[in-house]
Amino acid sequence: MTNPDVYRAPVGTHDVLPPDSERWTAVVATFADRARRFGFGLVLTPVFEHVEVFQRVGASTDVVRKEMYEFTDKGGRNLALRPEGTAPVVRAFVQHHPQVPWKVWYLAPHFRYERPQKGRYRQHWQLGAEVMGVDDPDVDVEVIALASGFYRELGLTRVRLQINSMGDAESRPAYVAALRAHLLAGGADLGDEFVARVEQNPLRVLDAKVPAWQPLIDSAPRLADFLSDAAAAHFARVGDGLTALGIPFTVAPRLVRGFDYYTSTTFEFVSDALDAAQNAIGGGGRYDQLASDMGGPPTPSIGFGIGIERVLIAAEAEGVLTPDPIRLDAFVVDGIGDATATAVVAELRESGLRADRAYGGRSVKAQWKLADRSGARFGVMLGTREAERGTVAIKDLRTPEGDQREVPRSELVTWLHTSTRGAPT
Ligand code: HAM
Repeated sequence: MTNPDVYRAPVGTHDVLPPDSERWTAVVATFADRARRFGFGLVLTPVFEHVEVFQRVGASTDVVRKEMYEFTDKGGRNLALRPEGTAPVVRAFVQHHPQVPWKVWYLAPHFRYERPQKGRYRQHWQLGAEVMGVDDPDVDVEVIALASGFYRELGLTRVRLQINSMGDAESRPAYVAALRAHLLAGGADLGDEFVARVEQNPLRVLDAKVPAWQPLIDSAPRLADFLSDAAAAHFARVGDGLTALGIPFTVAPRLVRGFDYYTSTTFEFVSDALDAAQNAIGGGGRYDQLASDMGGPPTPSIGFGIGIERVLIAAEAEGVLTPDPIRLDAFVVDGIGDATATAVVAELRESGLRADRAYGGRSVKAQWKLADRSGARFGVMLGTREAERGTVAIKDLRTPEGDQREVPRSELVTWLHTSTRGAPT
């Protein structure tokens, strides 16, 4: 007996099929175009890396402690599937030492062994961007503007930006000590997991979503009160830049984000169209030490990741990015039976039109049914009578009357271009 469950996508993963995948194409194309305008180039790194690369994101993080898909390959190497996108980009930077500033964007699947729910998956896709090699608050503003305008270009309006500063090497130790003291004083009875986190890295308590811990988190000291002068000046300049660009934001003093590598500016975009438990549709921040932690030169850097699935859930809730019901410009119906249909379809496609046809010698009636269902704007009938007159018959499949006309065969391409795009080629 075969087990039917093995022929289903594993729990926490899913297939993306047409026509829904058109929304993916739109999201990726919008991001790629915007990233290009901002001077970013595409970087592609392997789906798996040596496990040490990802361990750099922090021993105290959920991703490293419980969620990594680790395996040993047949050569005995310890590898892991990418749980997050920054560490591999930094690894590639350290390996190839490109010129700075290195401005790159990526599109990649990410793997985390999480408890699946709507908007939280074991495989999710991220669009991300990183700028490596510059410590300038103007870069922070540019990176945030790249993401912020992307949501706007997609038509999302219910997106809010929260920012915070994690401080620098000077500010953080004093804050961590104060936070640890506060948490230990008030949380003695909150259990082993709480105490373990406080001992290992009290910042990881701040981003936990455990309701019982919330009162203690709400009363915790604020990082902003511990910033060095340099860190405070950097953060103020980021706020000024965002204001100058007309990008609204709120300061979220306890936004620390879930990775140990963050320093200085951190930010998150939340969508009010999503359930609160997974309303982050993107987030990122500075990680000024990560490259040197991996053996590279000191390389202050900043970036973000955007979850494509969550963007699509938000888009659906906001009623934007709906797939165009017109998927083809023309569907060719073959009433002749020789090579004419093959030639006509090829000619339409080569001219830049979206064209398709039926296969397998179906009747003309059956072909018209497929034409109706294909999402085509026009049906193009190749009949023997029309062929004798040097014409084709065209039917408008998108008007209830199904307007018909005859067009000279030699003018078909121009006619279709004008009728679908409004201008001749
Ligand atoms: P992250 O916040 O873990 O950051 O992930 C970025 C985004 O990916 C989240 O805001 C969310 O939209 C989406 N996401 C994360 N986990 C899941 C999941 N299990 N299912 C669906 N969507 C998810 C990072 O990964 C950092 N590497 C971002 C960064 C880049 N920081 C600096 N540079």
